[in-house]
Amino acid sequence: MVKFITADDVLPIRNEILREGKLELDQCRFVGDDDPASFHLGYFVNEELVCVASFHPQGYGEFAGKGYQLRGMATLNGQQGKGVGTQLVNFAIVYLRGQKVNYVWCNARKVAVSFYMNVGFEVVSKEFDIPGIGPHYAMYVKIQ
Ligand SMILES: CC(C)(COP(=O)(O)OP(=O)(O)OC[C@H]1O[C@@H](n2cnc3c(N)ncnc32)[C@H](O)[C@@H]1OP(=O)(O)O)[C@@H](O)C(=O)NCCC(=O)NCCS
Repeated sequence: MVKFITADDVLPIRNEILREGKLELDQCRFVGDDDPASFHLGYFVNEELVCVASFHPQGYGEFAGKGYQLRGMATLNGQQGKGVGTQLVNFAIVYLRGQKVNYVWCNARKVAVSFYMNVGFEVVSKEFDIPGIGPHYAMYVKIQ
């Protein structure tokens, strides 16, 4: 089940999955996490939080209308590949459509491109490197 969670709630899974558990939780915060227009979603299995993502009001390039950036998408290792990430992103898209948002974009790790394509995103940049993390592509989905 997908629920709205706090900016603090996302930090342990962000650290474990996206930063290999190497950072202090406070070092896993993103600028904009506490923006009142940002929100954070979690997927719960038997009341355990297993998947998180954050959504910040932020446009990309020349795309028209109101955009949101998806950030910090991560599913616990034992729960990957079971469809929870897909359900979380689909929930966000339905919610954001209701908020009159026009598109969602993200900087996708190369290994996650197929995941985002499955939920309707397309690649909109050349490959670029984020130092210390690796190759990425910007990806975009129009939601209305
Ligand atoms: C990418 C990720 C968020 C997807 O979440 P998920 O809950 O595993 O996704 P789902 O089960 O809904 O979708 C699975 C699809 O994602 C893709 N995928 C990408 N990486 C994957 C992984 N490590 N494990 C399983 N599926 C993965 C596959 O295309 C898969 O589709 P398939 O089942 O048809 O092969 C998750 O695997 C993860 O946290 N990976 C490590 C961190 C990461 O790379 N995050 C993205 C940062 S941009």
